[in-house]
Amino acid sequence: MVTTEQTEQRTLYRHPLSAVGGAITIAGGFFFVMLLLFELVSGEENPYLDIATFILAPGLVMLGLAMFALSTWLQMRAARREGRKVRFNLSIDMSDPLYVRNLWVFLGLSAVFLVIAGYSGTRAFETMESVVFCGEACHAVMEPQYTTYQHSPHARVACVDCHIGPGAGFWVRSKIDGTRQLIAVATDSFERPIPTPVHNLRPAQATCEGCHWPSQFYGEKLVSRTYYRSDEDNSPWSIQLLVQIGGDNPRVPSEGGIHWHMLSDNAVEYEAADFKRQTINWVQATNRDGITTVYHNQDAEVESGPGNPAGEVRKFDCMDCHNRPSHIFLPPAVSLNLALRARDISPDLPYVRDVGLDLLNTEYQDREEAQQAIASGLHDFYAEDYPEVASTRKQDIDKATDTLSRIYSENFFPEMKTDYRARETNLSHFVNNGCFRCHNDSMVDTQGNSLRHTCDTCHLIVAQGPSESVADLETDLTGLEFEHPEDIDEAWREELCTDCHTPEEGY
Ligand code: HEC
Ligand code: HEC
Ligand code: HEC
Ligand code: HEC
Ligand code: HEC
Ligand code: HEC
Repeated sequence: MVTTEQTEQRTLYRHPLSAVGGAITIAGGFFFVMLLLFELVSGEENPYLDIATFILAPGLVMLGLAMFALSTWLQMRAARREGRKVRFNLSIDMSDPLYVRNLWVFLGLSAVFLVIAGYSGTRAFETMESVVFCGEACHAVMEPQYTTYQHSPHARVACVDCHIGPGAGFWVRSKIDGTRQLIAVATDSFERPIPTPVHNLRPAQATCEGCHWPSQFYGEKLVSRTYYRSDEDNSPWSIQLLVQIGGDNPRVPSEGGIHWHMLSDNAVEYEAADFKRQTINWVQATNRDGITTVYHNQDAEVESGPGNPAGEVRKFDCMDCHNRPSHIFLPPAVSLNLALRARDISPDLPYVRDVGLDLLNTEYQDREEAQQAIASGLHDFYAEDYPEVASTRKQDIDKATDTLSRIYSENFFPEMKTDYRARETNLSHFVNNGCFRCHNDSMVDTQGNSLRHTCDTCHLIVAQGPSESVADLETDLTGLEFEHPEDIDEAWREELCTDCHTPEEGY
């Protein structure tokens, strides 16, 4: 292809790769200018447009230039191999008018290019920080987290505010990590589900505490829950808890409470036996007077302690309790309770909670299979077991079916194998052991005292009973003794809630 008669200069640019590269560069530049004009003229703030304008288009230009450079290098190598010399004339000759004109053209174009590159660089930065970019750039992988995020209390907080935080160091680290993830996606070698807890998450001090000032925590929070049983009547049962959040707000004389772990002068450290941090070997508390107490798990399989750790030692922070502040995969029993209370599912439909739970809780191959099963499930059940309900309550059954379908699409992601079964929540002791990982009988100090775990340590039960309406409940602001909704004798005193409330039951 390279012939000796041609001038050296021309052969350098005669390679097909440089033609393609040149074309891509021009196309990318054109693409960029058109998109930029469109954006300026329409005044539209659209993250997709930003991704195209400030990442894809400059990316094309870069790709074209890289191909150009590669082709030059290839040709030089080929020429050298053939024993010919390739030489650039780099001398400055201001007396040649042609040369001066070309120099000005070159400088002018360079200046334009620099301005464009600078502008597009800052815009690319902004775009990569945007929620849509994080959530949708690799849609299939991030879908479970993006969807649950959109229904969470933090739906207006940008992903980067929790995942990266301020400072250039973590931004660069996140981009390096992002590149690794991009390769994993391109080669389809990422894990399903994405493993949690995220072990390299930035410490909460730099993220959560930027918005939630730790000494400004609150007194008590009233948590009201209505449950529906799996009987024919979907019988309701309500509980109201006064959760002792606590904190050290100087204007409210309260000390301790649940946020005791986080008060400025206290420190809690622990060692987990497993990757999921669900089994804890020991925990050490240091109070504001500097006094430390170590509690050891009597059932631990290894002998270890603060001086001789056997695994990862972690300083307790917000994420050890609030590990699902944004990606909340609701268990089906919880979603059903909420939908029944809101009348998105009518509690008058016999066994609707029980059948609905089964439909949601079955393990499906993919979403299509799930949605088909849900679409016909309730109708089939009533047609068979309650023909009269099937014919007279068709509207209610349709509405319940739509609600089940929505619950499924918001909380279950079979393609990524992600739902409540793959995600522990540590903020309670009902779905996972959460607080009871430490606050239990077996976690004892050297004197044999266990970490406090009476039912009034963290909350008071101020109302409970078999009704949806507070007026019908037994109430007492100083706290009631827990009454378990189903007669299980005193089993709840001896066993963990999670011994019976399991994923099979929908919790
Ligand atoms: C309020 C803070 C917050 C926001 C906002 C947030 N995340 Fe998270 N995210 C977390 C925490 C905390 C974890 C770690 C959970 C764990 O370690 O168990 C996490 C975990 C993840 C995981 C790991 C998988 C999982 O289910 O835990 C992914 C992926 C993720 N986030 C993506 C996103 C994306 C995408 C966005 C924006 C659309 C986002 N996050 C917004 C706090 C947040
Ligand atoms: C950019 C600011 C911002 C950041 C960062 C942030 N939050 Fe929030 N958080 C909010 C806002 C705003 C609310 C909603 C306040 C409300 O509903 O009263 C909220 C609400 C909450 C709530 C109450 C949720 C509920 O169910 O009512 C908790 C708990 C919480 N955040 C924990 C965290 C944790 C843990 C982190 C770190 C992983 C975090 N937040 C990071 C702004 C933030
Ligand atoms: C020992 C576990 C634990 C730790 C550690 C913890 N929290 Fe909480 N937090 C709770 C519980 C329990 C609640 C009340 C339950 C709820 O809001 O559903 C709560 C409530 C909150 C609320 C909501 C208050 C309201 O009135 O709605 C915010 C905001 C919050 N925590 C932020 C934080 C931040 C930020 C950190 C880290 C500095 C942190 N928490 C550390 C257990 C914890
Ligand atoms: C890693 C172990 C661990 C976990 C998990 C844990 N705690 Fe604690 N908690 C401690 C330790 C240690 C202390 C300090 C005990 C002491 O005073 O010696 C403590 C103290 C407390 C106190 C103060 C008790 C008092 O005497 O005033 C409350 C309330 C509390 N925790 C609630 C919770 C709640 C609610 C959760 C779950 C959301 C939880 N804890 C999860 C280890 C843990
Ligand atoms: C170490 C702290 C702690 C102890 C001890 C504790 N709880 Fe809780 N409990 C919590 C927290 C935190 C929640 C979650 C509150 C929320 O969702 O806002 C909770 C939630 C609950 C709920 C509501 C469950 C749900 O999610 O629907 C019930 C019922 C309950 N507790 C009963 C009990 C009983 C009975 C005991 C005694 C055997 C007990 N708790 C002991 C911290 C504790
Ligand atoms: C020995 C097994 C067992 C233990 C331990 C247990 N439960 Fe239950 N619980 C049940 C059964 C069975 C039901 C009835 C389920 C139904 O009707 O679908 C139930 C129902 C409930 C309900 C009504 C909501 C529902 O799912 O029907 C609540 C709330 C509840 N339990 C709270 C607790 C709490 C909190 C603890 C721990 C302190 C606990 N349970 C421990 C067996 C148990």
